[in-house]
Amino acid sequence: MSLYQVRVAGTGRFLPERIVTNEDLTKTLDTSDEWIVKRTGIKTRHYAEPGASNAKMGAEAARAALEDAKLTVDDVDLILFATVTPDYRLPFCASLVQRELNIPNANGFDVFSGCAGYVQATQTASQFIRAGAAKTVLVIGSDIMTSIIDPKDRSTAVLFGDAAGCVVLTRAEEGSDSALLAMTGGLKGDDEVLVIPTGGSKNPLTKENYDERGHYVVMKGRDVFRFAVDRFATQISEACEQAGIKPSELKIVVPHQVNRRIIESAVRRCDIPLDRVIMNLDKFGNTSGATVPMALDEAIKNGRLDRGDYFIMVAFGSGLAWASALFRY
Ligand code: UT7
Repeated sequence: MSLYQVRVAGTGRFLPERIVTNEDLTKTLDTSDEWIVKRTGIKTRHYAEPGASNAKMGAEAARAALEDAKLTVDDVDLILFATVTPDYRLPFCASLVQRELNIPNANGFDVFSGCAGYVQATQTASQFIRAGAAKTVLVIGSDIMTSIIDPKDRSTAVLFGDAAGCVVLTRAEEGSDSALLAMTGGLKGDDEVLVIPTGGSKNPLTKENYDERGHYVVMKGRDVFRFAVDRFATQISEACEQAGIKPSELKIVVPHQVNRRIIESAVRRCDIPLDRVIMNLDKFGNTSGATVPMALDEAIKNGRLDRGDYFIMVAFGSGLAWASALFRY
């Protein structure tokens, strides 16, 4: 039995200004607006300028989320930063957010586990709160995917964008209905389906492998597709069972914004109408760690959740990993 419960206190996001349309991509890639929209649902994405700091983007999203929660940096005692594109190999982004926002008293670390990482960070933050080890947590998801996507590879270049999102999780006050009710997750170890082959300790970056473009994401899109559809649907039923509710009682589903077809196929397997699923990938593409907090931010700002409503975050990605977190808002 947990000592405390968890409340979503505020949300925020940050988007780089530059918008890139499908039409723009056709100037450098053998692709078309029709192919991209039909196969993915994506129409535009935002790109950070070269040299932009991912930690600063995350800090901007956190600033907005704190304001939304009517809290200040003095309240924050933990910073979790989910990303696959940190500013440096060392140091980690959470420490740079602490400096950027001048947060006086916070612990923190990065979660570096692909597109499921944001939901895993949410699970971890919630456990700190439930155990009484933290009261106010910045859970940031931020990525500059354009730093790891090969602009010449049409199978990945059209899918991704850059963005940051943040959810402030706090200890729920006594008598509050807000709570984390269920969590699921798992791993299916793999380094072939979605991998950056070089630049790590196993294959350090050399001039040769750089010239072979091994520092960019290599993906077997079809395999990710099948895995994602399966994990999406099973996680929703497992989490609902844990929480003791029916999927039809979920007010909204906040999925990793991977591909419209993946989300639609998955939802068909669950007892949930498509209009309850938050999708904004048409505007932003797949922004990895930022998709879930940005979609939740948009849903709350559009009045899609009232206090007491059930919602679930659900994600999957490189690893292969999957994770979900079911809340009463
Ligand atoms: O966070 C997780 C990250 N992973 C993902 O987001 C990927 C998940 N997977 C997907 O979204 C889909 O698998 C893709 C959108 C990547 C691909 O869709 P698909 O329906 O699985 O297509 P496919 O890979 O089977 O390719 C079909 C055809 C191929 O041509 P041929 O061999 O049939 O002649 C590809 O070469 O489409 C071609 N193709 C393209 N054509 C135009 C691949 N990318 C493009 C493109 N424009 N951008």
